[in-house]
This record gives sequence, structure tokens and C-alpha cells, in this order.
Amino acid sequence: MIQSDLDLFGPEPQHLASQTVLLPGFALSVLEPLLDALRPVLRAAPLRHMQTPGGLNMAVALTNCGALGWVSDAKGYRYTTSDPISGQAWPALPQVLLELAGRAALAAGFEGFVPDACLINQYLPGTRLSLHQDRNERDFEQPIVSISLGLPAVFLLGGLQRSDRTVRVPLSHGDVLVWGGEDRLRFHGVLPIKPGLHSRMGERRINLTLRKAG
Ligand code: SIN
Ligand code: FE2
Repeated sequence: MIQSDLDLFGPEPQHLASQTVLLPGFALSVLEPLLDALRPVLRAAPLRHMQTPGGLNMAVALTNCGALGWVSDAKGYRYTTSDPISGQAWPALPQVLLELAGRAALAAGFEGFVPDACLINQYLPGTRLSLHQDRNERDFEQPIVSISLGLPAVFLLGGLQRSDRTVRVPLSHGDVLVWGGEDRLRFHGVLPIKPGLHSRMGERRINLTLRKAG
């Protein structure tokens, strides 16, 4: 059987808004090296539930790699250079992740993206992430690159006001979503993850969000 060119190059990027691009399956070509690189990161800086500034336990378990890591506690949301649990620097950003993020940003129209922070979120079935903006980074000219692994999710893409209409974006294992420019401060969130078992990742969704934070 003859494969069509489209099969060979994979699904096309989908423009969800003027500067929001879904790259279906973009991470799959480096999946195994990526998982190999994540294992030692998660050993050095285990996933944990942080407190919101209001004192609630966050449903998503998180950790970080990179020069900067995103944390939340009674003092608020911010980036730190070290893991508050170990007191050590966050694990380095693996090269495979750095390169993947740069290639994904470029494919979405953002040149020269060099992240210094990767937030690692783990969603178990039932876990959701409420609508929010990513605004703890210094330079909003830089895009956000978000890699989905494991169980599927429905991402809510909102507007610049919390009350704006949201669109539902299904995200699958290996998909990469990039938003920046005029879309950089769009509200977004994740609907509760449906129960399921992913063949490679088990009963969970892992999301890697790469940012230039400092
Ligand atoms: C986030 O907004 O930080 C994560 C989004 C996602 O899990 O897809
Ligand atoms: Fe976010």
C-alpha cells in the first residue's frame, strides 16, 4: 500500500486563535528520550501538592525542572531557583525538552524560544485546573509551550477576560499546544480528567509547560 504524503508528515498544525497553535502528536518522535529524561527529574524533585495562597491544597501534583521553578504557597505564586522541599536547585532542563520546545515554538511561528522553566503537572482522573492566566513570567513576548502526555484532556481556551466564552480543545498524548503574542494572556484551564488507562503512561495525565520565566 502506498502511504500518502500527509501520513508521512503527520497531522497539520491547527490554528485555534491568531497566535494559538495545536501541533498534534508533535512530541511523539522524541517520546522515549523525553520519558527517559523525565525519570531522574521526578526522582530528584518528586511531584507534590502545593497550597494555594488561600490555603487550599492544589488538586494537581507538580514539580519543576529548569533554572526556575513555579511554586505556590501562602506567600503567593512565584518562581524560585531551588526546590523548597530539598533546598537544592531544581533539576536541569533536559536537552531533549529544550530542543522540543524550541522546535514547537518555531512551528507555531515563534522564533528563538529558549525556555528556562518547565512546570510538570500530574493530573489523576477527576483532577481539573480552573481558569487562570499565566502571568508570573517576566516577559509576555515569550510564548508558552505545553506538552500533553498520557490520558486525554479537554483544555479550555478562553479570552483575555475571565468571563469570555471558552472553546474546548481535546488534547491527546504527544500533542503540543503553543500560545503567545496577543494570545499570551488568554485565560485557560483543564476540565476534570476522565478515568482511563493510558498504555504508556498509566492512569494519569502529565503536562509539561515550558516558559521563559526570568
Ligand atoms: C497549565 O495551564 O499550567 C497547564 C495546562 C495543561 O495542563 O494543559
Ligand atoms: Fe496555565
